[in-house]
Parts: sequence; structure tokens; C-alpha cells
Amino acid sequence: MSQTHFGFQQVDENEKASKVRGVFDSVASKYDLMNDLMSAGLHRAWKAYTVQVANLKAGERVLDIAGGTGDLARAFARKVGDTGVVVHTDINEAMLRQGRDRLLDEGLILPTSLADAEKLPFKSESFDLVSVAFGLRNMTHKDLALAEMCRVLKPGGRLLVLEFSRIAEPLRKPYDWYSFNILPRLGSLFAGDADSYRYLAESIRMHPDQATLKAMMKSAGFGHVDVHNLSAGIVALHAGIKC
Ligand SMILES: C[S@@+](CC[C@H](N)C(=O)[O-])C[C@H]1O[C@@H](n2cnc3c(N)ncnc32)[C@H](O)[C@@H]1O
Repeated sequence: MSQTHFGFQQVDENEKASKVRGVFDSVASKYDLMNDLMSAGLHRAWKAYTVQVANLKAGERVLDIAGGTGDLARAFARKVGDTGVVVHTDINEAMLRQGRDRLLDEGLILPTSLADAEKLPFKSESFDLVSVAFGLRNMTHKDLALAEMCRVLKPGGRLLVLEFSRIAEPLRKPYDWYSFNILPRLGSLFAGDADSYRYLAESIRMHPDQATLKAMMKSAGFGHVDVHNLSAGIVALHAGIKC
């Protein structure tokens, strides 16, 4: 059996998805509060930047993968309007329900689908834009997921991957200290779960850096990939075009 990583642990490949499910089942109800606390609200600016780069037009078709509580899906739905479509998807039912309820409370009814990014239940060449925010890091076979994202995009379609990445070197030490000391404490205090936030810190360190992810997107079929570092590389937005 092949091995992969779950944070800093080595696990069987077929165990990782259920461990990741455990994390998001545990944090779903406190997910939005924790995002604001951990990033001091910065995740809102990273997502707003992503929406700017998406440059969506009325009538476009969008697939939001690992959409969780629906921040991007909601912003995209406002851009594509009534003539467009945003499909809100996630592999985790608890996260998807949390997102769907929140969108409904805000008067938005979007098509919602429980979907594994590694086996997308959508026809080839059916979307103008695919997005995945803070989701790719958790996937077992990132290469398969990126190939699936490419398959469902129309020719010329764009993929936006917003994800934690490699921070600029001078900031690494304080960032590590914050990640391994403060995040689990915030998790324990506000979500009753230190381990899931320890996993978050570890999984960020195990995720491909900017250049590696760019190369992976090119191998998956994206002819052009731009990398936008945000907040000194705490996060990077990779924008790929299927060409
Ligand atoms: C950190 S949350 C991100 C939620 C949302 N996109 C955001 O930016 O706030 C990561 C999400 O990835 C989802 N996920 C993990 N593995 C996945 C997979 N193979 N396919 C689809 N979603 C997955 C999790 O269920 C979780 O909801």
C-alpha cells in the first residue's frame, strides 16, 4: 500500500481521506469563526483578491471545489448573476450543509453537490472557471484532482487555486512559532479541538511550494500559470489557463 502524509504523520493512502473528513466534521460548526480568529480577518482579503482575479462576467459557469461554508461561491454568484451558474461542492457533508444553510440565510440558492475533487461528477468542458480555496492541500492525489479540474474546464477556461504556500524566509521563524503554538491553542479554546489546528499547521508545511504547484498545474494541462503571492507568501493564488 502506498503511503502519503497527513500533516507530519505517514499514513496509508487510503486512510488520508477519512482522517481529513474527521478534521472537517469536527470543525464545521466553528469553521468561519476560526478563520477570522486565526487570520485576523485576512482570509477575507485573500478571497476578495481571488474574486477580482476571477474577473467573472454575467452568464458564466463556475465550479467551486472544496467550497466549504461558501465564501467564494457567494461572491461568484453575485458576479455571474441570474444568467450564470455557480455550483457549490465539497466532499464533506457537514461543511457543505453549513455552507448551504448560510447561503440560504442570505437568500442564495445554488446547486450544491457532494463531490470528490479527484472524481468530479461533471461533464468535460462544462465550466468557464473552477476554483479551489484552501482545499487542494487536503487532497490525497493532488495530480488527479488538478487533472479533473482541467477536464471539466472549457478550452480557455481558468483555474484559481488559493492555498497556503511558502512564506518569505525572514518571516519563517515567527510564522512557525505562531502556527505551532497559537493555532492549536485557538483551536482548543474556540473549537474544542487542538489537533485539527495542529494538522492545519503541519499540512501547510507539507504542501507544495509556489514553484512546485505551478509545475504540477502545467503537467495537469494548464498551458499558462501565474502565481500571485499574498501576505509575503503565507498564501498564494495560482491562476491557470487551459490552453
Ligand atoms: C479549509 S476548508 C476550505 C473551505 C472554503 N473553500 C474556504 O476557503 O473557506 C477545506 C475543504 O476541503 C474539503 N476537501 C478535502 N478533500 C477534498 C476532496 N478530495 N474533494 C473535495 N473537497 C475536499 C474539505 O471537506 C473542506 O471543506
